[in-house]
Amino acid sequence: MNSAPESTPPRTPVSVIGLGNLGRALAAALVERGHPTTVWNRTAGRADDLVARGARRADTVGEALEAGELVIVCLLDQDAARAVLAQGAGALAGRAVVNITSGTPEPVRELADWAAGHGADYLAGAVYAVPQTIGTPEAFVLYSGSRAVFEAHRDTLDAVLGGGTFTGADPALASVHDMAVLSGMYGMFAGFFHGVALAGTEGISAADITRHMTRWLTEAAAALPGFAAEIDAGDYTTETSTLDINAWGLGAILTASRARGIGDALLAPLQELFRREVDAGHGAASLARTVESLPSHGRAPAWGHPRPKAGGR
Ligand SMILES: NC(=O)c1ccc[n+]([C@@H]2O[C@H](COP(=O)([O-])OP(=O)(O)OC[C@H]3O[C@@H](n4cnc5c(N)ncnc54)[C@H](OP(=O)(O)O)[C@@H]3O)[C@@H](O)[C@H]2O)c1
Repeated sequence: MNSAPESTPPRTPVSVIGLGNLGRALAAALVERGHPTTVWNRTAGRADDLVARGARRADTVGEALEAGELVIVCLLDQDAARAVLAQGAGALAGRAVVNITSGTPEPVRELADWAAGHGADYLAGAVYAVPQTIGTPEAFVLYSGSRAVFEAHRDTLDAVLGGGTFTGADPALASVHDMAVLSGMYGMFAGFFHGVALAGTEGISAADITRHMTRWLTEAAAALPGFAAEIDAGDYTTETSTLDINAWGLGAILTASRARGIGDALLAPLQELFRREVDAGHGAASLARTVESLPSHGRAPAWGHPRPKAGGR
């Protein structure tokens, strides 16, 4: 007896607006997975390879918006995204638009409001991947805005971009998360560059010191959730890593660095925060208390305790 051939459900038609390095990789992944894929880019020739592989080139932004049940926008910045989407504003109503263009919270919220004003169902995303890793298990994406779009298209987005997490209805939230997460990364880079320079003054190669540094940084990263719990609770009691010991430790690094002509531009600002807390009488508190020395410019932090007055609590 002949059984009916197994059929896979048809894939969602997706449009990709913006074929830079990330957009091209994303569009290629969509084509590869069998999504009817429509692409648009300011420089139309960047679509040639994708068209050869089965994507459809849209001549206008409006055409791209209309062709996609899901529309993914991947442009240089929010200004470019606004300028491009404005070319097809009349076709935005009822579209599920996912904008993975990087941006700071205010412009991201402004563009989301503008798109929603034109009837789009809008989700903003922050991508943690490079073109070579999108769609792999290492890649992930933080989203905010329309939960309906996130839920309706989650499988497609997860498969071609990376595992997604919805962070809230305010479209700027993904960007706020992004800025905060990347702050951690840049802080790490600052320490890395300083350490490599310091080691270099004694002829230790970057590769050599990096081997030890990455081992220790892995340990140090594991301490962050504990620090976070202290910050959220506002309880900096510790028997592990006090501000006193860290202020001494970083002070020693800065002394050795200055003696070797490295300077202190990257790490002195952190030492200044340690000092403020120590001088305010919190030397025995956890290192995590450093965050209390960062002025919040009037915005209440999301932590579970009242903001301390200037000079410490
Ligand atoms: N690459 C990554 O690893 C990565 C990772 C995470 C997030 N992101 C974010 O994803 C976005 C795209 O990154 P990318 O690496 O693909 O950038 P990219 O290679 O520099 O491509 C930029 C894209 O924006 C378009 N564009 C720039 N200005 C424009 C304008 N005024 N009007 C219309 N189109 C304009 C370019 O069109 P033309 O081709 O015509 O110049 C191109 O399609 C950025 O916001 C980036 O921060 C990238």
